[in-house]
Amino acid sequence: SLSASEKAAVVSLVGKVAPKANALGSEALTRLFLAFPQTKTYFAHFDLTPGSADLNTHGGKIMNALASAAKNLDNLAGNLSSLSDLHAYNLRVDPGNFALLAHVIQVVLASQFPKDFTPDVQAAWDKFLAIVAAILTSKYR
Ligand code: HEM
Repeated sequence: SLSASEKAAVVSLVGKVAPKANALGSEALTRLFLAFPQTKTYFAHFDLTPGSADLNTHGGKIMNALASAAKNLDNLAGNLSSLSDLHAYNLRVDPGNFALLAHVIQVVLASQFPKDFTPDVQAAWDKFLAIVAAILTSKYR
């Protein structure tokens, strides 16, 4: 779990992420599909053109879910419970893809918030995203 200073480092960025959720998430998805084309198979029903309404809307959902989770660091499993059900029972996303998404999210944060995304903040977000991924894949069987 996250230490007190890691929690503070995660929270430090949330105020900047939430207002730009759609743009940040859209860029993350664009990077995901370009760098790891196999991830596109889950989104066959989306318009995957960079900047499309589908990417902006879905990217916003992802980043807002992360912002919400970051505000509930003492109850992450509870906060993410319904998303965990969705990804395990309905979507059946291969668990390996969560590390790929976590990677591109960090690239976006580093690119968009270079001053704020210090090594300490990055390390905390890396751990946070790994914990979120573990929860979202915990109900697989
Ligand atoms: C749906 C969050 C990882 C594939 C969603 C939704 C959210 C979300 C908030 C919308 C749920 C709703 O509409 O009620 C996250 C978070 C992730 C993550 C926070 C990890 C940080 C992934 C990964 C993949 C994936 C790695 C596959 C590469 C999908 C798909 C949908 C979805 C296909 C349904 C899209 C649609 O048809 O609208 N996710 N997700 N997710 N997610 Fe994830």
